[in-house]
Amino acid sequence: MDADPVVREYPDATWADDGPTRGVEGVVESGHVLAFPHLAFALEPEERRFLDPRWTDGKAKNVSLRWPAGELRGAAGAAADLGALRRMIVRYAEQSEAFALRLFPHYRGKLRRGNTSFRPVDVAGRARSWRQDDTRLHVDAFPSNPMQGTRLLRVFCNVNPSGEARRWRVGEPFEAHARRYLGAIGRPWPGSAALLAGLGITKRRRTEYDHVMLQLHDRAKADAEFQRASPQHAVAFAPGTTWVCYSDQVLHAAMGGQHMLEQTLLIDVESLARPETSPLRTLERLLNRPLRY
Ligand code: SIN
Ligand code: FE
Repeated sequence: MDADPVVREYPDATWADDGPTRGVEGVVESGHVLAFPHLAFALEPEERRFLDPRWTDGKAKNVSLRWPAGELRGAAGAAADLGALRRMIVRYAEQSEAFALRLFPHYRGKLRRGNTSFRPVDVAGRARSWRQDDTRLHVDAFPSNPMQGTRLLRVFCNVNPSGEARRWRVGEPFEAHARRYLGAIGRPWPGSAALLAGLGITKRRRTEYDHVMLQLHDRAKADAEFQRASPQHAVAFAPGTTWVCYSDQVLHAAMGGQHMLEQTLLIDVESLARPETSPLRTLERLLNRPLRY
């Protein structure tokens, strides 16, 4: 089997500042997944009970914290239990953010904390439409939450207690992926961005960048031949593994697994070490026009 060209492994066994890996902005920005097979998120003995889908409210597939207030969403249970669950997720938010700033010192003062999510529901059991089906390869893009070029850096950790890996597929480089569909993607309808925002369908204006990213997301998921035959590798992240990638750039699919924590970190394109590697700049180069508005 070929060596996986996307995943790079590192030996770190601590979240703290004295761990060995730092200054790897170029690796993550060029579309790699940084994997840390010896970097577990330690649960307290009394937190192990949270590794159970019964803590979700049944509507949301995840439990999440919304920052800056850090309010708990998608969870159900007694107040004391939910307080303890929240403290566990807050600890993950703090450790993973500090870790990202060690890995990527260039981002200091620029990284913003996005949602933190805890995913105790089995990937296999998450019933959904084709558009929400994350077992299909995709780049992250959201219908209601336009990023306007802001990057999505994510820190994942498998906390499964019974040995089960989080199984992903990773796919082709972003530029190759964009070239695959760009010719078929039209411009948004004139006035549509203002209309979607005015109706509250989007949280802010869906720029042409967001339009193209959502089209890439949807076309990839709807394309059975792409899913079957495009260049791809299976990756298994064992329990105790942490991994980091730009999920708006790395083609990924979650094929199986249960019990994961994920921290989203946001950063503007201009604050990257190499802004030209971003999806925004890549698409602008391929289309030869600005996409910000
Ligand atoms: C995704 O971002 O597509 C899902 C990742 C996961 O749940 O492992
Ligand atoms: Fe995704």
